[in-house]
Amino acid sequence: MTATDAPPAPRPYHRHDISVHDFWDRDFRSRDDVFADLRAEDGLSWQPPVEAIFPHEEPGYWAVTRHADIKFASQRNDLFGSSFGISVDPMPAEIQRGISFFLSMDPPDHTRYRRLISMSFTPRQVRRIESQIRDNATEIVDRLLDDLRAGRDVDFAADFATKLPMRTVSDMIGIDPADREKVAYAAECLFSSTDDDYASLEERATHTMAQLGILTSAGMELAQRRRVEPREDLMTNIVNAEVDGHRLTDTEIGAFMVLLGSAGNDTTKQTTSHAFRALVDNPDQIAWLLDDFDGRIDGAVDEFVRWSTPVISFARHALVDTELGGTPIAAGEKVGLFYCSANRDEAVFERPNEFDITRSPNPHLGFGGGGAHFCLGSQLAKMQLRHLFHELLTRLPEVTLGEPEYVHSNFVHGVKRMPIALA
Ligand code: HEM
Repeated sequence: MTATDAPPAPRPYHRHDISVHDFWDRDFRSRDDVFADLRAEDGLSWQPPVEAIFPHEEPGYWAVTRHADIKFASQRNDLFGSSFGISVDPMPAEIQRGISFFLSMDPPDHTRYRRLISMSFTPRQVRRIESQIRDNATEIVDRLLDDLRAGRDVDFAADFATKLPMRTVSDMIGIDPADREKVAYAAECLFSSTDDDYASLEERATHTMAQLGILTSAGMELAQRRRVEPREDLMTNIVNAEVDGHRLTDTEIGAFMVLLGSAGNDTTKQTTSHAFRALVDNPDQIAWLLDDFDGRIDGAVDEFVRWSTPVISFARHALVDTELGGTPIAAGEKVGLFYCSANRDEAVFERPNEFDITRSPNPHLGFGGGGAHFCLGSQLAKMQLRHLFHELLTRLPEVTLGEPEYVHSNFVHGVKRMPIALA
């Protein structure tokens, strides 16, 4: 072998390793000290592959940490695609497709499916279910108050925050009340697959596939029932819709169920827990909000989402040789988009580590960096948060919150447990 035949030396990894398991044991604030260093440096950092439950040959990925670079990559799906995978963790693209449906597609497939599903998310459709959301929020807070007054042990995250998103998504899709908890739990497990509370490392692959199976078969069973007995729900629309002259297959319907079951449940739940804690820690901001709730809640909800950043990351793959943030990226290389870092970028946000519901403008990337995949449920999520916090802040007496326990994950910023009691 001559010197010219020698394989190129592997590209060195950055001194800050954000792939290592222990990094995600640290709290959000201290992780952001590392992200702040990465944001301040030129270019992107090359990171080792995350420890994976599936075999792979991924050499590593580029970490994108600045607000402007994440926006650019999100909006240029001609350069950065989703069909080779959207997870920072190495995972076969076909498994990701089974979990995330059109979230891991590129045009023209993505455009067709998104158009179909969007029919259920128009502002008119979302307004249609507003009274249902309001009633559910009232009832859920009634229950919380009863439990607290009766002196029962209540966990804000596990017993309360999970309820409204679960009902909203279930009502929308048409999931039977008896199956709601099962679907929500399976979705939560999928989101938290690297946390030992849900499954040990050895069990992880089988556990993930089992939860995936529960969601997929729940979707398929429901589809079969709606074909026979249509109702006014999203599943009925989906089974009757045609994309390019063909009806959706059972596999596609299963994947759709997994996407909505997970995208719609856990994200809004986590925002509720983080935001409630931040408000309890800042009673002056509760008072400011209550002075003009209707006029101020929309801005506050944006800060809830920026502050929480429930979705920490997604990924894209370069479709051509290109450049991002001053770094050349070769076709096929993966870029990890760290929304958690974008939402603390000092180039965009003053005092980024302070919770401040008066922030305006608030161009956070909690729902994504814009572009084709921007969160389809953002209006629905905001509406739920508006109604839930109205009930919570106007009806709940003073409470104390226990220390939150966080989910170990590089994907979801989650609160597992947060005890609540009357003060
Ligand atoms: C606070 C709550 C939520 C947050 C933080 C959130 C965040 C996100 C993010 C970061 C993305 C990816 C954006 C991108 O790749 O550019 C996304 C996509 C998506 N979200 Fe949400 N989401 C929330 C609530 C919801 C709800 C309630 C639903 C539906 C019931 C939903 C449905 C979707 C769907 C269907 C997509 C895929 C869109 C596409 O690929 O075209 N999300 N969301």
